[in-house]
Amino acid sequence: MMTSFPELLAQRVSTSLFDTSRSLSEADILALIDQAIRAPSAYNMQNWSFLVVHSAAAKQRLLPIAYGQQKVVDAAATIIVNGLLDGHTSFTERFDPLITQGLAQAEHVAQWAAGANRTYSTSQLRQRDEAIRSASLAGMTLMLAAQAQGLVTGPMIGFDPQALAQEFALQEQELPAIMITLGYPTADTASVQKPRIPAHQVCRFV
Ligand SMILES: Cc1cc2nc3c(=O)[nH]c(=O)nc-3n(C[C@H](O)[C@H](O)[C@H](O)COP(=O)(O)O)c2cc1C
Repeated sequence: MMTSFPELLAQRVSTSLFDTSRSLSEADILALIDQAIRAPSAYNMQNWSFLVVHSAAAKQRLLPIAYGQQKVVDAAATIIVNGLLDGHTSFTERFDPLITQGLAQAEHVAQWAAGANRTYSTSQLRQRDEAIRSASLAGMTLMLAAQAQGLVTGPMIGFDPQALAQEFALQEQELPAIMITLGYPTADTASVQKPRIPAHQVCRFV
């Protein structure tokens, strides 16, 4: 029977335990990233990039950067979701297809581009906020896409971003927002989600 979306959400847990005997191909991972990029982003900037640490050698290079956390070696792959600080510089490429596909009018697009440029080019903080926001939405989408096909994931901030940027030659505009370990579960992988503060306690209607 198909798992419903609420069930899928309730089943997702952050895991440290992966079946080390099972791997994922580049095509498998690319298919998940293809789902992750369905996430929304401001102005459809799609200001994200994905560094997939996949080979055994690359995992060993990642290990000290992730402070020795064995899960980055045991996982089939670890995906670093970067937010891009310079998404606002690519509006032409992002918006032109909207015009050619008849999804937006050129004059509206010009107005969006001007507004977006003003918003981001004047503030490094807004560039950073937007990078983290977009990467986070893509990261969550990736985790749910993985969960839907029987994989498990572990989001992590336990890594040294400077060391990561240096070791894997991140570009200046790539801000590593979150690291996600990904793979198959073992019989011991936790399957019960930690308790949540009830919705009514974290919500205010106005
Ligand atoms: C932004 C973020 C960073 C996290 N960093 C780590 C981490 O470095 N190491 C770790 O073991 N878990 C990390 N976690 C996992 C959280 O501890 C976990 O999501 C939380 O306890 C709720 O558990 P659940 O995901 O199983 O529902 C992180 C989660 C998020 C969303």
